[in-house]
Amino acid sequence: MSADGPVVDLRSDTVTKPTPAMRAAILDAEVGDDVYGEDPTVAALEAKVAELFGFEAALFVPTGVMANHIALRMLVPPGGELLADADAHILAHENAGLAWHGGIQTRTTLTSNGLLAPDDVRRLIRHGDPHTLGTTAVELENTHNRGGGSVYGIDHLRAIREVADAHGIAVHIDGARIWNAHVATGTPLREYGAIADTMSVCLSKGLGAPVGSVALLRAEQRAQAVLMRHRLGGGWRQAGLLAAAGIYAIDHHVGRLAEDHANARLLHRQLQAAGLAARAPETNIVLVDVPGAAAVAARAAQHNVRVSAFGPQLLRLVTHLDVTEKDCVFAAEVLARFA
Ligand SMILES: Cc1ncc(COP(=O)(O)O)c(C=O)c1O
Repeated sequence: MSADGPVVDLRSDTVTKPTPAMRAAILDAEVGDDVYGEDPTVAALEAKVAELFGFEAALFVPTGVMANHIALRMLVPPGGELLADADAHILAHENAGLAWHGGIQTRTTLTSNGLLAPDDVRRLIRHGDPHTLGTTAVELENTHNRGGGSVYGIDHLRAIREVADAHGIAVHIDGARIWNAHVATGTPLREYGAIADTMSVCLSKGLGAPVGSVALLRAEQRAQAVLMRHRLGGGWRQAGLLAAAGIYAIDHHVGRLAEDHANARLLHRQLQAAGLAARAPETNIVLVDVPGAAAVAARAAQHNVRVSAFGPQLLRLVTHLDVTEKDCVFAAEVLARFA
């Protein structure tokens, strides 16, 4: 049961509702049947995102999970090996889809904040022989969700790219929140794109679109990616309604992510001032180490503050388009009462 009054929802940046202006863009969208390749708004979104990241091709898909899945399967064949950090979203939150549908083996290592060091990648790469499956690709998550929105700097990424090139393996970036990394560091999106063989980017996280992600690909991969999307049940028809929201989000909601980052810093300061072990955020995610996290989250929810229990002793709080400074101050007060 919840107390009266507005709810502050910090569980995820996926919970945003489309703004009135975004809804107007959806209403005005020109559409066609995208399975026939006839939706002009989908085509416009794909061209825009490909151009922003310097890729030859793009494919609009319903979810980040599907974008990661399709892109990674362009790089790693069934029975191939993929490197990732042990807390990567593809491993922690995608229900083993890569193994289930793609027959992909993963090799991992634990890191403190989800970011692989170039030396981790060098150490983990295996060269194939009759007894050993060789490594085909490495996956990097930027920003890193379970790492608390941690950011790969561009020099760090370039150093990993060098290791990958030296060993002939491909690089995929899970860029569900690459927009946050871009705003936090000022690194142009194209520079991130130049690191990767494939990428996934989400429109429905910090950017506030209701649905949608984009897989970034080479031109010759696109036809196969379209087939795979269809096989996964992701062939969609007048998807231009959703693509219009994505275009609006890119045009209007990238720069404002700086507000989410400032709100995350405010939340962190308030929580620290109240004596909670909140970790300093790099972007829009604040992790809080607290015993009995699930119970704390449940009590806070009864007082209109929703947060995620991310582990037995870990809370995750995410700022976004629908969270204000006042909300952050209120949320910290409520959490301090129950933690
Ligand atoms: C880093 C990362 N990648 C991928 C996804 C998957 O996105 P979706 O929920 O749209 O499938 C998420 C979702 O939160 C995420 O945090």
